[in-house]
Amino acid sequence: MNNDEKLPRHVAIIMDGNGRWAKQRGKIRTFGHKAGVDSVRSAVSFARKRGIEVLTLFAFSSENWNRPADEVGVLMELFNLVLKSEVKKLHKNDVRLKVVGDTSRFDAKLVARIHEAEALTANNQSLVLNIAANYGGRWDIVHAAKELVAQAVSGQIQASDIDESLFDRHTSLSELPQLDLLIRTGGESRVSNFLLWQLAYAELYFTPTLWPDFDENAFASAINDYSARQRRFGLTGEQVDA
Ligand code: IPE
Ligand code: IPE
Ligand code: MG
Repeated sequence: MNNDEKLPRHVAIIMDGNGRWAKQRGKIRTFGHKAGVDSVRSAVSFARKRGIEVLTLFAFSSENWNRPADEVGVLMELFNLVLKSEVKKLHKNDVRLKVVGDTSRFDAKLVARIHEAEALTANNQSLVLNIAANYGGRWDIVHAAKELVAQAVSGQIQASDIDESLFDRHTSLSELPQLDLLIRTGGESRVSNFLLWQLAYAELYFTPTLWPDFDENAFASAINDYSARQRRFGLTGEQVDA
């Protein structure tokens, strides 16, 4: 049976639970972040194999700056190291890497590394991997509003030109297929300021599995759950079936 129609084109994941995973093992929180890198690798490889077009991973939220300074430091260092060590392999596997979020707060070396990785992989086709770093859903919406106001003030557009489609074009991920499925690991049933605008009609999947334990089987279970759902977009079930 060809199940392609039921396969999500764009999946986003809130990778939560690293700290608790480490704590369960009597280790410090950052041990969990390091273990989480293996789950990132396996999620990317699974997404490619299954033919998912876009994978968006929440790596660091705009609120995560408020964590203890040493934890923030380790997360930044890890991001740097992973970029350095993994980009070649991503490129070889035809993966296009993009970073979404407000990178202005990152140090210059990290920003340069991000730009290099994006440029190197820009024409790759197998999978788009978006890393959301210093990302906040409210930031994304305000950022779009600011761009539109600037265009209105300079006379490029009229206020009456602003509709959902134009607004959408100023938000992150707008050039990609719409978000189909949001997965959150770690057991919390909240979106923690992730893709607020883009979530409008996404399917939500919450699992107690902690991120470092989220392997290919766990990802496959989420996809199977999604495939069994009927997305109605406001219509009746009968209309969708017709
Ligand atoms: C998610 O794991 C990773 C980041 C937020 C960077 P946590 O660090 O939030 O892990 P828990 O939720 O404390 O277990
Ligand atoms: C969300 O997890 C952010 C990331 C996974 C990067 P948090 O652990 O920061 O979310 P809250 O604080 O529990 O809502
Ligand atoms: Mg957490």
